Amino acid sequence: LNNGVARTPPMGWNSWNTFGCNINEALIRQMADAIVSTGMRDRGYQYVVVDDCWFNPNRDSAGNLQGDPTRFPSGMKALGDYLHGKGLKFGIYQVPVDKTCAQYFNSYPGATGSQGHEAQDARQFAAWGVDYLKYDWCSPNGTINDQVATFAKMRDALAATGRPIVYSINPNSIHEKTGPLRNWSDVANMWRTTEDITNAWNTGQTNGYPMGIQNIVNVNVPLASYAAPGGFNDPDMMEVGRSGLTDTEQRSHFALWAVMASPLIAGNDIRGSSAATLAILNNADMIAVNQDTLGLQAVQVSNDGTRRVLAKRLSNGDVAVALFNQGGSTTTVSTTAAAIGKTGSSFTLRDLWTGGTSSSTGTISASVPAHGTAVYRVSGGGTSNPPTTFRLRGESSGRC
Ligand code: DGJ
Repeated sequence: LNNGVARTPPMGWNSWNTFGCNINEALIRQMADAIVSTGMRDRGYQYVVVDDCWFNPNRDSAGNLQGDPTRFPSGMKALGDYLHGKGLKFGIYQVPVDKTCAQYFNSYPGATGSQGHEAQDARQFAAWGVDYLKYDWCSPNGTINDQVATFAKMRDALAATGRPIVYSINPNSIHEKTGPLRNWSDVANMWRTTEDITNAWNTGQTNGYPMGIQNIVNVNVPLASYAAPGGFNDPDMMEVGRSGLTDTEQRSHFALWAVMASPLIAGNDIRGSSAATLAILNNADMIAVNQDTLGLQAVQVSNDGTRRVLAKRLSNGDVAVALFNQGGSTTTVSTTAAAIGKTGSSFTLRDLWTGGTSSSTGTISASVPAHGTAVYRVSGGGTSNPPTTFRLRGESSGRC
């Protein structure tokens, strides 16, 4: 979406994965403080997104949304001011239908969705200082055409406020799985591509609830050509730093989100982050790959079911390569410089987990533990005749 924001994948934190509906203003402020004190803000995590259940179940007499008076007693504008004062940005949750997902499924009181209130709610969000809107959708009703029209309505309402607001939509919960069916970049800055993530490696789902890391990767990788500055596939908020995944799996999860140009939205309790968690979330080399200004999502170079290789072309001519071991035991994962669109015979490989460098005449290879992902930044040589999905918009062929 060409609205001036999300030229690279948005980074931040969201309340849902750890806290669900158990949120309040003290918690959100503590999380903001922790995002600053852990160095995450300075690495780029800026959007603090308050997910479902922040609202008063009743609109006011003029039909305006209000924060829950008990849990957000200072009001939503004050929360936005607090976040802005910390050098962070304010994200909030809403739905285009009558009920939020918690209202629909968890008997959370009220029916406060934006249906019929789009312009009014967009103005309210802008007045509160909102910088990011997560627009969910859990009603089983609605065809893909309804979804396009309905999500576009809020896109236009946000634009009419004049405030730059990242527009994050979820066309993929509960109803027909429309997330992967179309390129939503005409409608939003990011669009969920799968059902909800959970803190597990593999739930056996192909696109049902809940999705493990491996299951999400399977759906999201083929959508690479949709990603571009202003619009990114959203494989959901991260589970790094939560129980359920081994350290190797958490690193793999982060590495894969990084090369897939996925929004990097942390979902853990930042206040309790271990050094190991921060070493993952704050890996500057991996973040630089994710935030590369070309905005390309890694394309698949090969996949034999166990060894999967993804490559992401970067703005300075380097290519980031992920060597992903999907199997249950350590194995060697390999590719070549030629296979990732590099020419020449002399390359430098920088290991983005260890920071170590090595030289190569063309082979790119690593011994990777079960469910692990090695990532190399490959520099040197030239770049020629890239695979179609490596091309920038409007670039037809040849050298890049
Ligand atoms: C479904 C979404 O996929 C989740 O990320 C979260 O926003 C919940 N709804 C909130 O009810």
